[in-house]
Amino acid sequence: MKEPVFDSMEFRRALGTFTTGVTVITARGADGEPVGVTANSFSSVSLEPPLVLWSLAKSAHSLSVFQEAEYFAIHILAANQEDLSNRFASRGEDKFAALDVEDGLGKTPLLSGCCTRMQCKTVYRYEGGDHIIFVGEVVDLVRDDVPPLVFQAGKYAVAARKASEAPLLPAGSSEFKEDFLGYLLWRAYFQFHCEMRKQAPISDLSDQEFLILSTLFHSNWRSADGLCNSVFLDSDREEAARALASLLEKGLIEKKAGDNNVDLYGVTDTGKEKALGLLGAAKATEADFLDKLGTWEGGALKNLLKGFIVETNPGLPHPWERTDNESL
Ligand SMILES: Cc1cc2nc3c(=O)[nH]c(=O)nc-3n(C[C@H](O)[C@H](O)[C@H](O)COP(=O)(O)O)c2cc1C
Repeated sequence: MKEPVFDSMEFRRALGTFTTGVTVITARGADGEPVGVTANSFSSVSLEPPLVLWSLAKSAHSLSVFQEAEYFAIHILAANQEDLSNRFASRGEDKFAALDVEDGLGKTPLLSGCCTRMQCKTVYRYEGGDHIIFVGEVVDLVRDDVPPLVFQAGKYAVAARKASEAPLLPAGSSEFKEDFLGYLLWRAYFQFHCEMRKQAPISDLSDQEFLILSTLFHSNWRSADGLCNSVFLDSDREEAARALASLLEKGLIEKKAGDNNVDLYGVTDTGKEKALGLLGAAKATEADFLDKLGTWEGGALKNLLKGFIVETNPGLPHPWERTDNESL
């Protein structure tokens, strides 16, 4: 063969631009020992008969077992099975330790919780450079409608369908806003909050009161400063002070002196009941929104937002983190 004009690193990177799912492929050796490897070389081959292929490095420990196995099973992993992918990509002694495994055809170990599981009969094996290509005829499959794990450029990713192309804003509005992250984050929060307010018994609470009550419910006995620093903008401090006074008056929170003689605020039993109602409404709104958006997209959106919060935090304290000044 001719020498390529690129090095192997460049070739790997180029292959990484092809986004794939992730599979774990298992078989059982003649000695009864199970083997399994993580593989993204899986591909469909033929519909009639139903054929699939994958390739295994000749250096893999499990090679001899797959070379001899009459059957193997392909597990297309779900988005929450990253640990399983890492486990079978390692060279650990017992990759199956403490896993819930069933026996399939030819006693092939079958794993659960994946998107799709195919039991295959080995029909061809081909030389493929430093890999062996296995072609299997699919003899049985089970499928579940759960989001898949994705592999892209050497990293795990999540799959989400592209958003509808319908415009977000009325015709004539600036295109800038439609694509501006600040607008999108604010608008999404606003829609969520409006819907939640419809469901929750909070017509008697201002936004600031709502924010304080729900923060104290998760992290009780906070100082006015502690609360302000974690959930309010500087410009909202006066509003926050008014909201604290109003919540005290309504009997939803109470006040006592902390260790450093700082006033600390906590929720009363009535406040807890109210907060539980809010939590219920928030959960119901979430369920409703996720239902409209689709489970995959909901998972992908949460994943992106978590990354966004971690990567862009300019050093704000966690809302439920108490400072030294707030000890009782
Ligand atoms: C996402 C991902 C995809 C992989 N795909 C393959 C593959 O298609 N073929 C392969 O031989 N190794 C692949 N590997 C590496 C093997 O899983 C790894 O070398 C494993 O340790 C082999 O197991 P064994 O040596 O116990 O047989 C992949 C690893 C990861 C993380």
